[in-house]
Amino acid sequence: MVQSTGNKKVKTAVFISGTGSNLKSLIVFSKTKESPISVNLIISNKSKAKGLNYSKIFKIKKKVLDFKKKNLVLSERKLLSFLKKNNIKLICLAGFMIILSKNFIKKFNGKILNIHPSLLPKYKGLNTHKRVLNNKEKYSGCTVHFVNSKLDSGKIILQKKVKIKKNETENSLAKKILIQEHKLYPKAILKVFSL
Ligand code: GRF
Repeated sequence: MVQSTGNKKVKTAVFISGTGSNLKSLIVFSKTKESPISVNLIISNKSKAKGLNYSKIFKIKKKVLDFKKKNLVLSERKLLSFLKKNNIKLICLAGFMIILSKNFIKKFNGKILNIHPSLLPKYKGLNTHKRVLNNKEKYSGCTVHFVNSKLDSGKIILQKKVKIKKNETENSLAKKILIQEHKLYPKAILKVFSL
């Protein structure tokens, strides 16, 4: 599993594509005494991702890479050498909308985590809240899991359940789950380091 060496924090890269509210919660967590990780890099496939602003705010290095299908091999090669150069030992995906290749995942085997806004193994993939509501589920939630080569299918680390109220909308459900995500990701990281 992931191990810290001595009292040094494990250098971590967070991958984002959008708002980066999970990124922010991870950065804030990483600055606490109990955190086994430090956030040293922010990676994005979108130069306009709002979350990239946290790079300036918290003085954390960032890198934007293309990741388009035809450039994926090259982007991942660049990324790997960049991660190595920065001594990154853990990757946290947080709203990163790119599917990484098997080869990349193998190179970081067991050291990539992801957060997904559903109670996996239910509702893998996109539009989770919409599908959950259409199916009239009573509960939904969020999951932090290890990343393997199949989408949203790696070993589950932690989950948090939320109750769906009458008149719940996609928006209200997304908001409610996001609040839980911000608590769950740090907790899951603590769990990973205690395994
Ligand atoms: C979160 O709901 C996460 O679970 C999903 O994408 C969303 C990202 O939100 N994978 P943010 O960018 O962290 O605010």
